[in-house]
Amino acid sequence: MFPLLLAVIASLVLLVRAESVIVPGATWTDTSGNAIQAHGGGILKVGSTYYWFGEDKAANSALFSAVACYSSSDLVNWARQNDALTPVSGTMISSSDIVERPKVLYNSENEEYVMWFHSDTSNYGAAMVGVATASSPCGPYSYKASWKPLGNDSRDMGLYQDDDGTAYLLYASDNNQNFKITQLDSNYYNVTTQVAQLTGATLEAPGIVKRDGVYYLFASHTSGWAPNPNKWFSAPSLSGTWTSQADIAPEPVRTYFSQNNYDLPLGSDAIYMGDRWRPALLGSSRYIWLPLSWSSGSPQLVWADVWSVDLAAGTYSVASGTTYEAESGTRGGSSTVISNSAFSGGEAVGYLGDGGTVTINNVQGNGNGQWVSLYYANGDSTWRNVTVSVNGGATTLVDQPDTGGGSVVLSVPVKLNLRSGSNTITFGSNQNNYAGDLDKIIVYNVG
Ligand SMILES: *[C@@H]1O[C@H](CO)[C@@H](O)[C@H](O)[C@H]1NC(C)=O
Ligand SMILES: *[C@@H]1O[C@H](CO)[C@@H](O)[C@H](O)[C@H]1NC(C)=O
Ligand SMILES: *[C@@H]1O[C@H](CO)[C@@H](O)[C@H](O)[C@H]1NC(C)=O
Repeated sequence: MFPLLLAVIASLVLLVRAESVIVPGATWTDTSGNAIQAHGGGILKVGSTYYWFGEDKAANSALFSAVACYSSSDLVNWARQNDALTPVSGTMISSSDIVERPKVLYNSENEEYVMWFHSDTSNYGAAMVGVATASSPCGPYSYKASWKPLGNDSRDMGLYQDDDGTAYLLYASDNNQNFKITQLDSNYYNVTTQVAQLTGATLEAPGIVKRDGVYYLFASHTSGWAPNPNKWFSAPSLSGTWTSQADIAPEPVRTYFSQNNYDLPLGSDAIYMGDRWRPALLGSSRYIWLPLSWSSGSPQLVWADVWSVDLAAGTYSVASGTTYEAESGTRGGSSTVISNSAFSGGEAVGYLGDGGTVTINNVQGNGNGQWVSLYYANGDSTWRNVTVSVNGGATTLVDQPDTGGGSVVLSVPVKLNLRSGSNTITFGSNQNNYAGDLDKIIVYNVG
């Protein structure tokens, strides 16, 4: 009885501490509390365990430091494992080279895990793929080679494994002009034949999902680290004919400031996994994971500040919260109500920061720590930020990526400790720079 009770208490404590929600744009921490370093990543499922491979950019450099490997049973709580791939001096994967977008497949013929990645020199002049193999999901992997597939460029790439085990390299080729799909050999060590080319498509960062026998290709265009409107294409077979490009989200939001890195089927929908790159501070680039829903008939991103997946049911659910309009708050200093039909209620508060503040009153909290999303517009070409203070306490700084125009509204999350009952939240105090225009906040009951 007593040990059983202890076990129950222990598991309750674990349940309380484990995260249950996905919060796009937040600092996503692993089970040790460190920011997850798995940029440009890919997912591999082995049994009921998911592995997330990605670039460790903790050193804030584009150069190769490691391909990290994380494991999870729920896609939310991730435990860092040993590094899957680390630099090998004197090769194309030295610490002065580029290793990006690692993707791993299991090859059942050789009972082996095979990693493919974009392998390049520091000026991106080599444009190769690299391959490494291992006998367990996180390896460590043994590097085999880097080369140009079929003699041509390969930059931002992905892999696709079809139901019959045939695998394909999806890649930006020919100086990023042509996008190609090329079959792998049965070992997954090399490419054999090109099956499709989207000529002049300028696509990169691809992923493919098969749904009801139709192939859906997702990819961004090529704009460096800056976001662009990512696209979808469909075809009855990988060789085509591929439909012409269509948006996965409204164009002005530029894929909610993200770039595709992987697309994971979830029931009859999928999960879009994207990177929100921050080139000046690469290790602080965030992950934008969103439901990719076919409910409208075509694949579209569903913006969700806070959401969760039910893996057993193959469904997702988007949390709802309580909205507080910024223009209903108490303004201080030089802050001003500004009008634009893009804002909820047609108004927002501008000229925040540099003396201007707004305090939102009577914000209901639960006392347990909770996610709050700030809806804002930042028409600059660079990031802004805003200070947030709860009940007059210390300020927290929240980054506000440029939204691509002053009438494009995005949201960024911050976890706040609101007390149970009524709170005030002040924005823009204690900062000399202008913050984004604040449209509204949404307070969620989960933290
Ligand atoms: C692809 O590579 C082959 C062999 O190196 C070369 O002859 C051909 O010109 C390349 N194609 C393009 C479009 O660069
Ligand atoms: C891939 O195959 C081509 C021939 O099709 C060959 O020239 C090349 O060396 C192979 N690359 C590797 C890494 O095996
Ligand atoms: C906040 O944003 C301003 C630009 O508006 C920038 O100069 C400053 O470095 C940012 N602060 C931090 C800590 O990122």
